[in-house]
Amino acid sequence: MVLVLPHLIVFLLVLLPISSIAQNNGNVTVGNSLTATDNTTSWLSPSGDFAFGFRPLSNQKDLFLLSIWFDKIPDKTVVWYARADKSLSIGGANPVPRGSKVELDADKGLVLTGPQGDELWRSNTIVGTVSYGVMSNTGNFVLQDSNFNNLWQSFEDPKDTLLPSQTVERSAGVVLYSRQSETNFSKGRFLLKLQDDGDLLLNTINLPTDNANDPYYNSGTVASVNDSGTAGKQLVFNNSGYIYILRENNQTFLLSQVKLDSTADFYYRATLNFDGVFTQYSHPKTSDANGSWTSLWSMPDNICLATVSNSGSGTCGYNSICTLKSDRRPKCDCPIGYSLLDPNDQYGSCQPEFIQGCQEDKLSPGKDLYSFEVLINTDWPNADYAFLKPYTEDQCQQSCMEDCMCAVAIFRLGDSC
Ligand SMILES: *[C@@H]1O[C@H](CO)[C@@H](O)[C@H](O)[C@H]1NC(C)=O
Ligand SMILES: *[C@@H]1O[C@H](CO)[C@@H](O)[C@H](O)[C@H]1NC(C)=O
Ligand SMILES: *[C@@H]1O[C@H](CO)[C@@H](O)[C@H](O)[C@H]1NC(C)=O
Ligand SMILES: *[C@@H]1O[C@H](CO)[C@@H](O)[C@H](O)[C@H]1NC(C)=O
Ligand SMILES: *[C@@H]1O[C@H](CO)[C@@H](O)[C@H](O)[C@H]1NC(C)=O
Ligand SMILES: *[C@@H]1O[C@H](CO)[C@@H](O)[C@H](O)[C@H]1NC(C)=O
Ligand SMILES: *[C@@H]1O[C@H](CO)[C@@H](O)[C@H](O)[C@H]1NC(C)=O
Repeated sequence: MVLVLPHLIVFLLVLLPISSIAQNNGNVTVGNSLTATDNTTSWLSPSGDFAFGFRPLSNQKDLFLLSIWFDKIPDKTVVWYARADKSLSIGGANPVPRGSKVELDADKGLVLTGPQGDELWRSNTIVGTVSYGVMSNTGNFVLQDSNFNNLWQSFEDPKDTLLPSQTVERSAGVVLYSRQSETNFSKGRFLLKLQDDGDLLLNTINLPTDNANDPYYNSGTVASVNDSGTAGKQLVFNNSGYIYILRENNQTFLLSQVKLDSTADFYYRATLNFDGVFTQYSHPKTSDANGSWTSLWSMPDNICLATVSNSGSGTCGYNSICTLKSDRRPKCDCPIGYSLLDPNDQYGSCQPEFIQGCQEDKLSPGKDLYSFEVLINTDWPNADYAFLKPYTEDQCQQSCMEDCMCAVAIFRLGDSC
């Protein structure tokens, strides 16, 4: 008994300094865990710029998102989140209930479990034994073994956002998916990837599959006829905040010529927004100025026109009218006589507030059941079933009126219907 006591005291003296250091260098040891509650703690990077942990969802009481966020700004903007894909047998959605827990495990890496202990997500394919995790000042959460080898990095498993010092390797098959909406972090309808031939693509996809429509942006960084060195090999977000495609021949293809301020004064991020626009943002680091994210550049130039494709509704839902705002983000509105299918989803589809069909026409023969709303500079692409020419505007309207299948008539170029 007497012999045990001195050991115990020595043990405590050693343990205390280590645990306080552990908080300052972003170092998380195996066995550490966080629980999703109102006053949940998080794992901070040494500079305090980034935090890893549970963020409460603003619009959903009792739901939390395992994520990494900018911790020093009021927005607490999320840059990475755990998203369990349906294809994984462990399943589960990305917002998790109160009482869920994330633990750093030596063999499994990060393991997210629900309040009942059911596994919801884990950092996949850990080969080796994890010694600790590090929330680094770049925003990258890294799991390392005892020889400082990286076993897993959040930077290699990006969601919708890239940060300075992050690269996407062509060969890694990494894909950025947009979210469903600003507040719903489920997989959305847009993706960004560096394709095998070196081309950087933005595609709309046909959920719930990943089947992609024709790209609505492509960089063109492929091998040229006589020079395979021009193919892109990496998407680079360098430490100064510039985003470019690095070609096989080490030349760079800058996505934007915009001059940037120093990363000492500004945070940068690039996000594939839920509406399909890929945007680079900056945010002042000083906390006294009430900063917000400023859009520096984005692609494509006009998402309303660019996402027209042979399948899918584009950036707005079906029957919804897309207009481009000054920040090059889309605005989706229902036409007069139509209303949102889901009143909470401004970007979703619109349904008619009337019943239209051939049956209705037959029941009231000779009666004008419908009238026209005229919209200027508006098109309804890829849905034509008749093309009448030459035709006047009146003939065009009349032909639609007399056709019980017709919902819209497009008149253009002074003679085409
Ligand atoms: C994290 O902690 C472990 C154990 O104390 C230590 O060996 C390692 O060097 C630390 N890593 C960093 C990046 O500080
Ligand atoms: C966290 O919040 C719960 C309930 O809101 C409270 O019971 C608990 O004491 C709080 N814990 C700490 C460490 O503040
Ligand atoms: C997010 O959107 C998906 C697909 O529309 C839906 O199934 C899910 O319930 C939504 N999640 C939340 C938290 O609202
Ligand atoms: C490839 O061909 C084009 C056109 O023939 C030529 O202008 C260019 O210099 C060639 N590039 C190389 C690397 O040979
Ligand atoms: C980042 O890229 C830009 C543009 O190519 C270049 O001017 C700058 O020196 C690069 N910065 C770093 C840290 O590599
Ligand atoms: C490109 O740069 C890398 C790293 O600096 C180097 O190893 C490689 O040989 C270079 N490739 C070419 C084609 O210059
Ligand atoms: C920041 O915002 C707060 C609240 O809106 C306001 O009271 C304060 O004056 C603002 N500070 C600056 C520097 O704009």
